[in-house]
Amino acid sequence: MKFISTLIATALIFISSANAYANPGACSGTCNNSHDPSIIRRSSDGTYFRFSTGGGLAVHTAPALVGPWTYKGVVLSGGSKIDLTGNTDLWAPDVHLVGSTYYLYYSVSSFGSQNSAIGLATSTTLDVGSWTDHGATGIASSSSKNYNAIDPNLIAVGSAYYLNFGSFWGDIYQAPMAATPTKTSASSYNIAFNSSGTHAMEGSYMFNHGGYYYLFFSRGICCGYDTDRPAKGAEYSIEVCRSSSATGGFVDKNGVSCTSGGGTVVLASHGTVYGPGGQGVYDDPTYGPVLYYHHVDTSIGYADGDKIFGWNTISWVNGWPTV
Ligand SMILES: *[C@@H]1O[C@H](CO)[C@@H](O)[C@H](O)[C@H]1NC(C)=O
Ligand SMILES: *[C@@H]1O[C@H](CO)[C@@H](O)[C@H](O)[C@H]1NC(C)=O
Repeated sequence: MKFISTLIATALIFISSANAYANPGACSGTCNNSHDPSIIRRSSDGTYFRFSTGGGLAVHTAPALVGPWTYKGVVLSGGSKIDLTGNTDLWAPDVHLVGSTYYLYYSVSSFGSQNSAIGLATSTTLDVGSWTDHGATGIASSSSKNYNAIDPNLIAVGSAYYLNFGSFWGDIYQAPMAATPTKTSASSYNIAFNSSGTHAMEGSYMFNHGGYYYLFFSRGICCGYDTDRPAKGAEYSIEVCRSSSATGGFVDKNGVSCTSGGGTVVLASHGTVYGPGGQGVYDDPTYGPVLYYHHVDTSIGYADGDKIFGWNTISWVNGWPTV
């Protein structure tokens, strides 16, 4: 009996370590309404801001990453001045401090459409009511393009800026930006592509750490899990590639090029966490680099409005991010 229960206990430990993702960190207050989150801490007073997809882009604030989070309103109450279908239902905000101004990139699109554009709003405080919409950045798409101009993400490389973007079709692209990154300065090029299946890669986020640029992306189906649940494993998960350059040469942990289908899984569905994605990385003063994302909690509900904010501290194992 003792021997058998030891065997069972050993088997259980083995099974759980095979999928050893940490549960999401603590979150209190309003943790839902969190699709495609973007997190930034205001240095003047330490207030955390969380921006998310939908309407004029929801704004929640908290005194700490763990909350309590409070809904404050939206970034652009009248929508974007970009003249495209979807301009009152903005997606995938990405916020960075550029000099002394906060830049918030967003996408205008509609589900399954390539008629899309990436826009920009700026603020010096992050507060609701302080945002100015600048409209188009120069990154736009229609059915004649290889890419879809959604899911923006800014990366600074010294004094230069690049905007990563894209979804499905040709997957992840990058555009060099002007020295003040309101507009593109050159045409865009592909940085990640999986030629198999439906090219289900989107929501990229690049993070510079330890001599590498890490390109995180979401793979799979993002949405509508309450009405049309994807086959097991086809829902969102988070993958990563890396390169010593921010502009190309990304490979996965096995050395497979990420323009040839490479990608190493960082976080996938586990326990009551389903479909984690829409991620970013934030170098938090308390926790260090954290991976944050939205996910469904299967004990709560599968609807898009039920998407919950999750985060985990990153452990760098042989130079690869794990949670
Ligand atoms: C590339 O796409 C195929 C088909 O969808 C999928 O099975 C595979 O896991 C993808 N590769 C990566 C690294 O995500
Ligand atoms: C968030 O959860 C609360 C209950 O905790 C619920 O009333 C609200 O409708 C949810 N928000 C969305 C966008 O579904």
